[in-house]
Amino acid sequence: MSKTDYITLNNGIKIPQIGFGCWKVDQVTCAEQIYEAIKVGYRLFDGAMDYGNEKQVGEGINRALKEGLVKREELTVVSKLWNTYHHPKSVKIAINKVLSDLQLDYIDVFYIHFPIAQKFVPIEVKYPPGFFCGKDGVWEFEDVPLADTWKAMEGLVEEGLVKSIGISNFPGALIQDLLRGCKIKPQLLQIEHHPYLVQPKLIEWVQNQGIAITGYSTFGPQSFLELDMKNAKDAVSLFEQESVVSIAKKHNVTPAKVLLRWCTQRGLLIIPKSNKKERLVENLQINDFNLTEEDIATTSGLDIGLRFNDPWTWCEIPTYI
Ligand SMILES: NC(=O)c1ccc[n+]([C@@H]2O[C@H](COP(=O)([O-])OP(=O)(O)OC[C@H]3O[C@@H](n4cnc5c(N)ncnc54)[C@H](OP(=O)(O)O)[C@@H]3O)[C@@H](O)[C@H]2O)c1
Repeated sequence: MSKTDYITLNNGIKIPQIGFGCWKVDQVTCAEQIYEAIKVGYRLFDGAMDYGNEKQVGEGINRALKEGLVKREELTVVSKLWNTYHHPKSVKIAINKVLSDLQLDYIDVFYIHFPIAQKFVPIEVKYPPGFFCGKDGVWEFEDVPLADTWKAMEGLVEEGLVKSIGISNFPGALIQDLLRGCKIKPQLLQIEHHPYLVQPKLIEWVQNQGIAITGYSTFGPQSFLELDMKNAKDAVSLFEQESVVSIAKKHNVTPAKVLLRWCTQRGLLIIPKSNKKERLVENLQINDFNLTEEDIATTSGLDIGLRFNDPWTWCEIPTYI
């Protein structure tokens, strides 16, 4: 079984530095993949209301728990509050849905998925509602300040339904605003992070605030090819970038491992996703080599500020829907 290091959050809770990402994990094979992931050593599962597979994630987790492969307290189960549940009343509806889908009585981390408050959509009408839940796919917003949503998230911790709370896709200015008025400081920030989008200043500032950072889409364009996104198709694959390939050759590892190690050596958490069983171990077992400072700087040097997951641009043209 592969092992991962642990990161201590600002509330004293320790969570694995490497987890499994659940976005676009096929519904049909999801429960089995989660179960297999637990078998090979994954202990953190990064899910979300929006991923449409929380029932299957819960199935995989509960099978492993029942079979005694792992104890509940050894797992870090993560979910994210979708945009249409930002109203404090809706935050409660959301957590109840998450817990019931996962068949758990608490989760370990709950993030605000995006700093975007969209109009409430009842679960019976559409679940998950996605971005295009307005009339004719036009966004409809809800007038809820983030501070109110955060207060409701803090309430979930006080009720014991959630252990740690975080924010995702928040820019620096909004994080600063949240920190001014919060009772519970976010434990985690989750951001898109790969060599084409490094965001060094944001990372340095957030880490200095005692907030841990999870980087997502570590393989850059790779994940967005599945959505047929043009900027992902136009970008050079990070697996084929000359410098990444040459660093991989030097350490006798795959380019994928170089990209993941580049994150963990800089103190970030990672949550690679794969629908393939054979990649589970590869993505978890990355602590058997160390990049040099030069390797890290060279990889960071690929930064071109290329963001794939920006709803303000791609939501205008939902070509893949
Ligand atoms: N907060 C947010 O807004 C947000 C946004 C995006 C993602 N996330 C989270 O972050 C997780 C990871 O991000 P992601 O899924 O976008 O991207 P990712 O993990 O960087 O990349 C996944 C892609 O890489 C392929 N892949 C996986 N392991 C590989 C390997 N060892 N070698 C070659 N290819 C490999 C996968 O294909 P196969 O499946 O075929 O292996 C898939 O196409 C998500 O699952 C989700 O939990 C959060």
